[in-house]
Amino acid sequence: KSLAIVGCPFSGGQPRAGVDQGPIHLIHAGLPKQLEELGWKVHFDGHHQFEDVSAAIGPDSPIGKLKNPRRVSKVCEEVAKVVGEHAKNGQLPVTLGGDHSLAMGTISGTFEKYPDACVVWVDAHADINTTDTTDSGNIHGMPVSFLLGLGEKVEEFKWVKPVLKPSRLVYIGLRDVDAGEKRILKENNIKAFSMHEVDKYGIGKVVEMALDHVNPNRDRPIHLSFDVDALDPTVAPSTGTPVRGGLTFREGHYICEAIYETGCLVALDIMEVNPSLRDAESVRQTVAVGCSLARSALGETLL
Ligand code: ARG
Ligand code: MN
Ligand code: MN
Ligand code: MN
Repeated sequence: KSLAIVGCPFSGGQPRAGVDQGPIHLIHAGLPKQLEELGWKVHFDGHHQFEDVSAAIGPDSPIGKLKNPRRVSKVCEEVAKVVGEHAKNGQLPVTLGGDHSLAMGTISGTFEKYPDACVVWVDAHADINTTDTTDSGNIHGMPVSFLLGLGEKVEEFKWVKPVLKPSRLVYIGLRDVDAGEKRILKENNIKAFSMHEVDKYGIGKVVEMALDHVNPNRDRPIHLSFDVDALDPTVAPSTGTPVRGGLTFREGHYICEAIYETGCLVALDIMEVNPSLRDAESVRQTVAVGCSLARSALGETLL
């Protein structure tokens, strides 16, 4: 049992400063030791230094609507390499964000080693805007469309291969989906369990249905990409795009526990913790919940 923490202090996929400090806080809160206590051999050799990337790129003017396109692309390409390497070395990559554009990198890395993997994306948002449909131009609202190969191709992102099939992707927790994104989900037949379904069926049934869809025989590798804004803002307040009506503390942890129980987890992302938003107690609470989600996904049990 061996894992590698990939610390990604990066905020270029969205406009709010501070999300780059997320991984630093998660490490300071003691995540490596907590995971060791679960029996993992934990490899962590410091956070990535993306400043040199930014410096090398220089001014990064928008391409179409996309903001910071060169930085996001370069950083994600590096992350893909690192995640892919760790996966190939038998170290389960645990990526700490940073904004969710990073998942373009983490999922690309996972699919290098596990081409038949599936993705469980836990989020208030679908992050599936294309270069056309995006209103904000923030790339953290777009990584899924790049991974699926949707929308017009941008030269800058040509390293991103359409590794993900719509049938191998499932969402849990959605409640703030843009009109264009709703269309994309329908057109591509992408399975999504919004908060409506969580209310209707309960989280136990929702996770079972989600896994039945992407992983019917429970034999495919699972990449879990968890945006902490999936949780209700009362549970995870320090994040850049909070949306009320989210998952409870237990519902969020249940998803992680149930995925661990499948024995199929091969990669984990904990994204969008922003320790510069809200008061000190909210920050402490959000960082703590980021750590405990990771522990639940990596084998912590209640009994
Ligand atoms: N849909 C909005 C956008 O495209 C919000 C995306 C929020 N994404 C996130 N990873 N928090 O900008
Ligand atoms: Mn390493
Ligand atoms: Mn989100
Ligand atoms: Mn997200």
